[in-house]
Amino acid sequence: MHTTVSRELRKFLAPEFIFGIGARMKAGVYASNLGMSRVLLVTDPGIVAAGWLKDVQNSLREEGIKSTVFSKVSPNPRDCEVMSGMEQYRASDCNGIIALGGGSPMDCAKGIAIMVSNPGHILDYEGVDMISMPGPPLLCIPTTSGTAADVSQFAIILDTSEHNKIAIISKAIVPDVSLVDPEITVSMNPFLTACTGMDAMTHAVEAACSNASSPVTDLYAYHAIELVADNIKNAVENPNDLNARYNMSLASLEAGLAFSNASLGAVHAMAHSLGGFLDLPHGKCNAILLPHVMDFNFQSAVECFKKIGEKLKLSPKLNTKELRRELMQTVNGFNRKLGITDTLGDMGVKSSDIPELAEKAVDDPCLLTNPRQAGIRDLESIYEEAS
Ligand SMILES: [Fe+2]
Repeated sequence: MHTTVSRELRKFLAPEFIFGIGARMKAGVYASNLGMSRVLLVTDPGIVAAGWLKDVQNSLREEGIKSTVFSKVSPNPRDCEVMSGMEQYRASDCNGIIALGGGSPMDCAKGIAIMVSNPGHILDYEGVDMISMPGPPLLCIPTTSGTAADVSQFAIILDTSEHNKIAIISKAIVPDVSLVDPEITVSMNPFLTACTGMDAMTHAVEAACSNASSPVTDLYAYHAIELVADNIKNAVENPNDLNARYNMSLASLEAGLAFSNASLGAVHAMAHSLGGFLDLPHGKCNAILLPHVMDFNFQSAVECFKKIGEKLKLSPKLNTKELRRELMQTVNGFNRKLGITDTLGDMGVKSSDIPELAEKAVDDPCLLTNPRQAGIRDLESIYEEAS
């Protein structure tokens, strides 16, 4: 029950999605429903090796749909990869895109979709609502449980000349259909499971505390926090436990629905800057920064952090000071148990890098919805605490 009535209007946008074991086998049927007959299949070499690509290709073949594979996608997808994917799309005369992979192939596929229908270069579309023409039909099949690019209106692309990640936020890049199949995620190794799972946790926490949250995004955000807390350790320690995988895929989906509509906060702004600067894994950057940003934001979102404390099963008897400390310790505890023990310094961040990192992070659109206003000096101190 909401005891305070907000007079602000909030919209909620979500793609059609099919959730459950074996959902990937429906690729052909849904591609056909979207009018695809020649598909650009965007994936990466790891997914090809895991064998999931064959399932999708067979499903397309059964519906008489031709496909061409574009797998030159790096872990942090680059602007030049988007442009060469667009060229392959055009050269193969495709009329639809399927992304099979984690956040990188899905974000790259979104970038290709933008460039197929719009002029210029992918970096021209940085920011909120910069895309005027919708792209061709886009179907996403996530192979990790964390990024949620399969339901979000976000795409993150590496600007290779500036060594910075740009955020593209637009409803034009919400996929038309997503097939969320927890079975595919069993091929993730424990460390990737940990990093992507903490990415989902960060999405849920940032969406819950965002200035643009709403009663609808809250439903998904708080439940996702509980799902990650209850299942991440099991998913990491028992990779074939389908129950844990199912719940982590659900957590990722719910956190994605929340953040796609409520947006994010300082953790993502700072992780984008960090990931672009040193080409570091996104989920790991978030996991390291999350407890420090929660501590920074605490006073500006106490009620929200009380609810997060409930979902993390902290004692309801804690006073505000104790809750603040326990939240930080609990998130640090997750990281430790999951094997995320590096500091930013261990990952190669030097104190002389921090001013540049903070300068880039302060311009990231994710910072606009952080519950506490953060300037360059604030971001510098958080980077220093995490180093
Ligand atoms: Fe993320």
